[in-house]
Amino acid sequence: MQRSRIIKVKDKTFAVSISERTLKGQIKRIAEQINRDYEGKKPVFLAVLNGSFIFAADLLREIDLPCEISFVKLASYQGTSSTGTIREVIGLGIDITNRPVIILEDIVDTGLTMAHMIDTLKKQNPASIDICTLLLKPSKLQVKLDVRYCCKQIPDDFVVGYGLDYDGFGRNTKDIYTII
Ligand code: XMP
Ligand code: MG
Repeated sequence: MQRSRIIKVKDKTFAVSISERTLKGQIKRIAEQINRDYEGKKPVFLAVLNGSFIFAADLLREIDLPCEISFVKLASYQGTSSTGTIREVIGLGIDITNRPVIILEDIVDTGLTMAHMIDTLKKQNPASIDICTLLLKPSKLQVKLDVRYCCKQIPDDFVVGYGLDYDGFGRNTKDIYTII
């Protein structure tokens, strides 16, 4: 069945901007890098809920290292603009002491969420922490952040789909859509 190029999520309209095919290709490319860079190691992936659940599921199936995954929550966002308010990391049910950690995030916008999360995780003395994000809005970055793995850089426009939401809706599409 042909998929819609235009979708409506609540009161807003979005047009397809990154296809499922592109996403899959980019995720494969990043997974190959991680497989190479982490050879001989047993990383812990920390997927940031809710937005990264589909990305994490697709990426993890391309990883051929012995690894664990845990899902954490940390929200700083409401509606279509970053509020800058940050909540605690919850749900880290795994000991990351001396372990290499790879954070899986759906999108890095101002970078404040990731900067805060790294500060919090460092207190538990992991061996290393890398950021792996599906999307990055480079023009919005407000903090110095080393994003080691990024599937795709995008302009500063609000996106939904493939796990990303607008007010909780719009996560359940195979492609990514940009607000119009
Ligand atoms: P910061 O600004 O801390 O924000 O890097 C990261 C979080 O903001 C959310 N975010 C978005 N969510 N479409 C979304 O669905 C977007 O275009 C978007 N931009 C930022 C997201 O939850 C991310 O974790
Ligand atoms: Mg998020």
